[in-house]
Amino acid sequence: MSNDKPMRLKLHVWRQAGPNAAGSMKEYVAENVNPHMSFLEMLDVVNDGLEAKGEAPIAFDHDCREGICGMCSMVINGVPHGGHKGVTACQLHMRHFKDGDEVYIEPWRAKAFPVVKDLIVDRGAFDRIIASGGFVSVATGGAPDANALPIPKRDADAAFDAATCIGCGACVAACKNASASLFVGAKVSHLAHVPQGHPERAERAKNMVAQMDKEGFGTCSNLSQCEAVCPKGITVKVIAELNRELAKAQAK
Ligand code: FES
Repeated sequence: MSNDKPMRLKLHVWRQAGPNAAGSMKEYVAENVNPHMSFLEMLDVVNDGLEAKGEAPIAFDHDCREGICGMCSMVINGVPHGGHKGVTACQLHMRHFKDGDEVYIEPWRAKAFPVVKDLIVDRGAFDRIIASGGFVSVATGGAPDANALPIPKRDADAAFDAATCIGCGACVAACKNASASLFVGAKVSHLAHVPQGHPERAERAKNMVAQMDKEGFGTCSNLSQCEAVCPKGITVKVIAELNRELAKAQAK
């Protein structure tokens, strides 16, 4: 039987008025939290209360609220997205908390993701890495028959698995080096597994890694925290693939 008893939580939230302002943790009480609420809905209720008192609401990013867009970047109790396997912050339900719990909420911490306000960070570095990957050459004309371009099932599955990356940045936030290797690995691996990605394959790997370094992301120490927090289950296998793609590109 489900427990619908409302909860009361003490929140510790990072507040920062702007990119150059000093930030600090502030305490709030979240009253009447329904266990069926999502984490973002709980924050909505807290914000309603703050606005009613004339205080500035807690700024946080969100769009789809169903694990697709990757916007809800926040560290909950020290773990990006809160630490429940395969779940983004917007998919995290309050039933995972207990009445009286204290909850610490912070933005992604990484030099390449500067804080814009409160829990919102600028993840434009990811967009620039994607842009550096360039275009994909495709033959124009009528749509080809689906079976005219055979792709081994193993490659199709690997490409689909890598393509599930939503670019949320949890991998960077979990890494002590703030490395973006899991993200870049997913993007490079995705296109390396299908013929459509082959014409620009070498340039793509070199340019995306160069842009990743330019943005200030750190190197990979093979500790796999990124894999542990990825809400889409991307594994560090894509980092090995990235390294292989880069080595092959440099050897050309
Ligand atoms: S708001 Fe889109 S993934 Fe969370």
